[in-house]
Amino acid sequence: MSTKNPVRWYNLVAPLYDFAVSGVYTGARRETAKQLHLKPGLTVLDVACGTGENFQYLIDGIGSRGMVIGTDFSKNMLARAKQKIPSNQWGNVHLLQADAQTLSIKNIKSGLSLPKLQVDRILCTLGYSVMPKWEKVFERTWDILEPGGRYAIMDWHASKPTFYTRIVDRVAASDIGRRWWEALERSSVDYLKETIVNPAFHGMVFVVSGTKPV
Ligand SMILES: C[S@@+](CC[C@H](N)C(=O)[O-])C[C@H]1O[C@@H](n2cnc3c(N)ncnc32)[C@H](O)[C@@H]1O
Repeated sequence: MSTKNPVRWYNLVAPLYDFAVSGVYTGARRETAKQLHLKPGLTVLDVACGTGENFQYLIDGIGSRGMVIGTDFSKNMLARAKQKIPSNQWGNVHLLQADAQTLSIKNIKSGLSLPKLQVDRILCTLGYSVMPKWEKVFERTWDILEPGGRYAIMDWHASKPTFYTRIVDRVAASDIGRRWWEALERSSVDYLKETIVNPAFHGMVFVVSGTKPV
């Protein structure tokens, strides 16, 4: 396993991913959806969506008139997300395999054959600590977000490495030393940061969000 090639790692662990994380992040995902200020009919982009563990929380907020676009670079993680669509009757979920650092309105539109596209909300959960070019991912996706739209990130951060943080990084192919919230804090208005209370997280899982200025 290598943090330099997390996609290879996630292709490998995709069959076990839901079993490993199921239930662990429920509160954190709910808080992320809450901070997005979802409304019926909105379009939400889930960056590095993995197996689609956020989708139900998003659909609960945007309803059947809204749209969820899930993108991930791992074919096997996306295949798991795809399997969930029919059983959950998610007729408004679209999936795109893409490197998050290359995302743009143009390539999402052409990748999904959408005649038009406005992205009202963006989230990335447990992705910034994993994606090697995370700063570029923020730049690209911030550009995609409609002015006035909200952006939320949920992830791990530890200021100092410990035995525990090394285990987290090893298991998740991550680097939780990254200060992944700073660009959003700088760029947004109404910035909010919440620590997720869960004994397993040791105070190291946060949800941050902010609004793109109009
Ligand atoms: C820890 S998983 C998080 C999945 C999901 N967001 C969740 O909350 O369960 C990290 C995800 O980042 C994806 N990923 C890694 N590098 C990526 C990249 N360059 N572009 C898009 N996705 C990437 C992996 O394939 C994996 O699905």
